[in-house]
Amino acid sequence: MSASIPLFKVHMPSGAAPALAATLASGQLALGAKVEAFERGLADYTGNPRVNAMSDVSGALTLALYIAGVRPGDEVVVSPMVCLATSMPIANLFARPVWCDVDPATGMLDPARIAGLVTPRTRAILAYHWSGDVADIEALQTAARGFGLPLIEDASEAFGAEYRGRKLGDHGSEFCIYSFAAVRQITTGEGAALFCASEQTHGQARQLRRYGIHQAGFRLPSGDLNPESDIAVPGFNFCMNNIAASIGLTQLPEAAGIVERQRDNGRYYDSALADIAGITPLARRADAVSGYWTYSLRAERRADLMRKLQQDGIGCQRLHVRNDRYSCFAQQRRDDALPGVDLFDRENLSIPCGWWLTHEERERVVACIRAGW
Ligand SMILES: Cc1ncc(COP(=O)(O)O)c(C=O)c1O
Repeated sequence: MSASIPLFKVHMPSGAAPALAATLASGQLALGAKVEAFERGLADYTGNPRVNAMSDVSGALTLALYIAGVRPGDEVVVSPMVCLATSMPIANLFARPVWCDVDPATGMLDPARIAGLVTPRTRAILAYHWSGDVADIEALQTAARGFGLPLIEDASEAFGAEYRGRKLGDHGSEFCIYSFAAVRQITTGEGAALFCASEQTHGQARQLRRYGIHQAGFRLPSGDLNPESDIAVPGFNFCMNNIAASIGLTQLPEAAGIVERQRDNGRYYDSALADIAGITPLARRADAVSGYWTYSLRAERRADLMRKLQQDGIGCQRLHVRNDRYSCFAQQRRDDALPGVDLFDRENLSIPCGWWLTHEERERVVACIRAGW
């Protein structure tokens, strides 16, 4: 069997280890200057200065939902075709996901179906950018704003993606979340970023990510704790630390090169896989550029194709399982059909598209698929 082509791979620049060693030796390990520097780097990268570096996406999503007003018994409209970690924070706040069907051409939440799902208990719309492809942000915002609801974008897999010429995170959705988990386009080991649309929500996020502490005034000039510094709203601990940020600071300078290689691979597949019987390429927006975290497509007889690819040493998997099949969401199961989800869940398949892929390797992937399964 020829050398395997992984679906996911960690990107770690040579400068990461010395940067990490310096932070470990500095004694400044927790939330601090490295985190602020990483946030400035993310603000420059996206154009949105209202960014909080977070411990992980689950924390960032929980905080966005919490600031959006989601409380026990409330509802959040979300598609089942998301990462399990996209919908879990809704349950962690004792609220209910209300499953919305997807457009099977993209695998993403269908904005036209939102209106029929909104009730007096709906507090937010949560949209996920599938595998780094870009959702119909304007239509989602219009649908949400029609009910005065905030839109939360889970862009965990969409680092580097652009919508109408600008990076995700700066399009006016109330919240947008990036992930820096181990196998993302860039990583901090574990980590995430929460982009906010307003100064007010940004300020709330900054306070609530760290126990609800009001940074200014929390300590006296002597360094002692200030007993007069109140905590009005109980917060969480969802902060990124200097250790993770140190890694992130060595990744950002290489981001453009990584993103360009992923895009180049994605565009190669867009043309090379366009005319193969049994393969339906996903519909990607003309006014957007995918982050191509993986290259996702729809395949008839998916299990057969997966077996063939794996026999050829090519990493592949369905990216996520429809979340409405998990028993933890049994009470939320809709008895009416979700035809888009049924089809997309049955056929979606992710193949390697990462920065590590050589031209020979991507040609091998296409040749394997073109040979039939
Ligand atoms: C789309 C999406 N959202 C959220 C998460 C959760 O990320 P974290 O592990 O940082 O909480 C993942 C992780 O794989 C993901 O793919």
